[in-house]
Amino acid sequence: MEVLQDLNLKKDPDLLVGAELSDDAGIYRLTDEIALVQTLDFFTPIVNDPFDFGRIAAANALSDVYAMGGRPLTAMNIVCFPIRDLDKTIIRSILRGGLEVIHEANATMVGGHSVEDPELKYGLSVTGVVHPEAFLTNAGAKPGDLLVLTKPLGTGILATALKAGQLNEKSTRELTRLMTTLNRSAAEAAVEIGANACTDITGFGLLGHCLELARASRVGLKIDTGKVPIIADTLTFCSIGLVPGGSYINQKFCSAELKIDPSVDPILLDVLFDPQTSGGLLISVPRNKVAALVQKLIENKTPSAAVIGEVVKALPGTICCG
Ligand code: CO
Ligand code: CO
Ligand code: CO
Repeated sequence: MEVLQDLNLKKDPDLLVGAELSDDAGIYRLTDEIALVQTLDFFTPIVNDPFDFGRIAAANALSDVYAMGGRPLTAMNIVCFPIRDLDKTIIRSILRGGLEVIHEANATMVGGHSVEDPELKYGLSVTGVVHPEAFLTNAGAKPGDLLVLTKPLGTGILATALKAGQLNEKSTRELTRLMTTLNRSAAEAAVEIGANACTDITGFGLLGHCLELARASRVGLKIDTGKVPIIADTLTFCSIGLVPGGSYINQKFCSAELKIDPSVDPILLDVLFDPQTSGGLLISVPRNKVAALVQKLIENKTPSAAVIGEVVKALPGTICCG
């Protein structure tokens, strides 16, 4: 992250993953067998139902532990709450939702902290464990790998449609289902099959996180845009302009490292940059293991198991979209 650049960070041989490569979580070695995985995330509500918001925020925060191939152990609540303007039953519902997902992840809630804030926000700080030699980062992708995505795109666009009162009940349920689905079984499959690299798709959108992976791994990525899974109705809302501002910010931020075939529809590009909440894992897997990974993901009932592109040697740190 840019704001960290001037900080004089202490060198520590046990810090296995720090802030330098914009990875999903920090990893700190405790012993030869155990390393801590640490992350936190919190944000303003993206759905109307407080219980569902709690579940989504928790699944989203836990995801960064899964993206490193780790197992969450403990979670702490982070709460910003307008105590004068909002009924306390709302915060209770949010916390109940969060706790349900923490328990689904087999993790334990150990406390938290709340502050008064005019804008409601909720999330978790999560601590997990991983073997210090067996974690996944965004820096391990190798030329020849194939890229697999485990959830369809479009949560930012559909949440924008929901805010505008345009999303019907069925689509709202599907959006909630996808955002509350843990990335646990996807991560287990990636670890079991022997993936080379992994990250989760969140605020920078699919192509923003692809770019982080390409930079960290010093490889190029080729994305087959026609193979990217997209949630039903997303393109329709996108075509009438219900696109979150973050999608355009992401596009601007990445444009120099991006080569887009003129045949790619600009509307599709808005989806490829759509900021995701609790998005899926992007897994870089050796070509000869991709069939086994896809089969395992299907067995584990992940929302998607789509091969969307490949890792190439040429033009490291860039993405080609066709
Ligand atoms: Co992440
Ligand atoms: Co994160
Ligand atoms: Co405190």
